[in-house]
Amino acid sequence: MPARRSSGLPDDFYALWLGRTMSHTCALWADGDTLEDAQIRRIDHHAAQAAAGGAARVLDIGCGWGATLERLVRVHGVGHAVGLTLDQRQAARAQQRAARCEVRLEGWADHRPDARYDAILCTGAFEHIAGLELSREEKVACYRAFFTRCRSWLRPGGRLCLETVAQGYPPDGPQAARDAMLMALTLFPGAQPPGLAEIHEAGSGILTCVRVRNDHEDYARTCRCWLARLLAARARAVALVGDETTADHERYLRASVRLFEQGHASLLRLTFRR
Ligand SMILES: C[S@@+](CC[C@H](N)C(=O)[O-])C[C@H]1O[C@@H](n2cnc3c(N)ncnc32)[C@H](O)[C@@H]1O
Repeated sequence: MPARRSSGLPDDFYALWLGRTMSHTCALWADGDTLEDAQIRRIDHHAAQAAAGGAARVLDIGCGWGATLERLVRVHGVGHAVGLTLDQRQAARAQQRAARCEVRLEGWADHRPDARYDAILCTGAFEHIAGLELSREEKVACYRAFFTRCRSWLRPGGRLCLETVAQGYPPDGPQAARDAMLMALTLFPGAQPPGLAEIHEAGSGILTCVRVRNDHEDYARTCRCWLARLLAARARAVALVGDETTADHERYLRASVRLFEQGHASLLRLTFRR
């Protein structure tokens, strides 16, 4: 069972650079967008892909601070939205954010829904499903267990939308890219980017994959924007979390911009149907 935890860093620190929606995942950009516009565009994209508009029940696995839950019920007419997170502070904030939402402090493997879902979203949590040090077969088995669960929770015809950082092309890239990936991952202990082939192998025969896109350039732009905001608010960031943690985040963001710009890391958005 995963441990209940918080990042240890105050929400105010994340608010300095993640912006008003407090979304800690890749925005979906169009010309002229602010970060907030692009994060809303991403949520609306997943809601449309998952056919969540007007749905009775939707699950958000890894709901963060609740931006998606809030928009699902307030704008997309979802009757009841359930969010899962392992972070106590996120759970508290997400629960305050919207009526008709139920936020549970539990991991996906412990989830026992009261009824089937019409749609499931999972943005930025799939990276945590398989631990480090696993063989390829073991990783695929973890992903398969996840897809099997999602299938059992979905009504027939229901959709799963997945957004995940994944290995780039070529998968390992040059040494500099591997170093950058390792550095970026130090801030996300236990996170492990999957390969697209592993995802397909794991999902095959369980759910039908109906759409895949690699929006790595969107993530480069998102990280560039986060970095600019963090640098602009540096004094406040240092006051909140100290110089070392601020510098760690600046390094992670710089490395991430390079990784995604050059395609050595992917940002996959996949839609599956039961
Ligand atoms: C990078 S954040 C993404 C948050 C949110 N989806 C967003 O778009 O801003 C990852 C989230 O996944 C959650 N998470 C990580 N492992 C999980 C697990 N095994 N089960 C459920 N949630 C998990 C974390 O607690 C956190 O809320």
